Amino acid sequence: MSLPIAVLLSGGGSNLQSIIDKIEEGVLDAEIKLVISNRARAFGLERARNHGIPTQVLSHKDYRSREDFDRAMVEAMHDHGVSAPEGAVIMAGFMRMVTHELLGAFPNRVLNIHPALLPSFPGVHGQADAADYGVKISGCTVHFVDEEMDHGPVIIQAAVPCNAGDDGESLGPRILKLEHRVFPQAIQWLSRERLEIQDRHVHLKFAGVPLAETPRVSVEPPCNALVWPPLEDGF
Ligand code: GRF
Repeated sequence: MSLPIAVLLSGGGSNLQSIIDKIEEGVLDAEIKLVISNRARAFGLERARNHGIPTQVLSHKDYRSREDFDRAMVEAMHDHGVSAPEGAVIMAGFMRMVTHELLGAFPNRVLNIHPALLPSFPGVHGQADAADYGVKISGCTVHFVDEEMDHGPVIIQAAVPCNAGDDGESLGPRILKLEHRVFPQAIQWLSRERLEIQDRHVHLKFAGVPLAETPRVSVEPPCNALVWPPLEDGF
């Protein structure tokens, strides 16, 4: 069955676009039932509309508490046919923390992407923080969401090299290219019920590439990345 999803975003929506593209290519078996933005001007809304996907703007400023805001989002998702246990919530550049109101309505069904190798550099400036720190490798992480920021069980990570002189602006696009590969892949694993959480460890069922055969992934701007677990065909 195709996975019913709601995508939450606050900005440009390039990750939303990568999800739409993989669905349209027929490699990601999911259906975006609703895109919610907390910002009316988010370009991601236009991307959704261009593909006939229903959108809703819910401003957090209109609610007294985070819980009230989350309840409104859950209601909107339910109204559009996204509910647990089948449905899932995809946070694709959504700049708000979510509470137990949303997480309780979708237990282990909320995914987020973060532009750094967690647990390093959580927060809103992951790329710039990593570059400023002078790390030699950074990347991105797709994880289940819990009530702490950028904290839940890790599903997939991709690593890219960083150079002296890199800053958030040069490192960001390199990482973003990989976000567009790993996020649709993680959603497909969820769609196929292949993700099993034990404590904070996520096991990918039916995976089988030995570490020694780890494929490198090339992305533009030119760089080789390491992605683990490996991307499957089409991603
Ligand atoms: C991405 O870098 C994502 O990792 C972070 O917010 C950014 C969203 O970018 N959480 P976009 O709106 O998908 O282009």
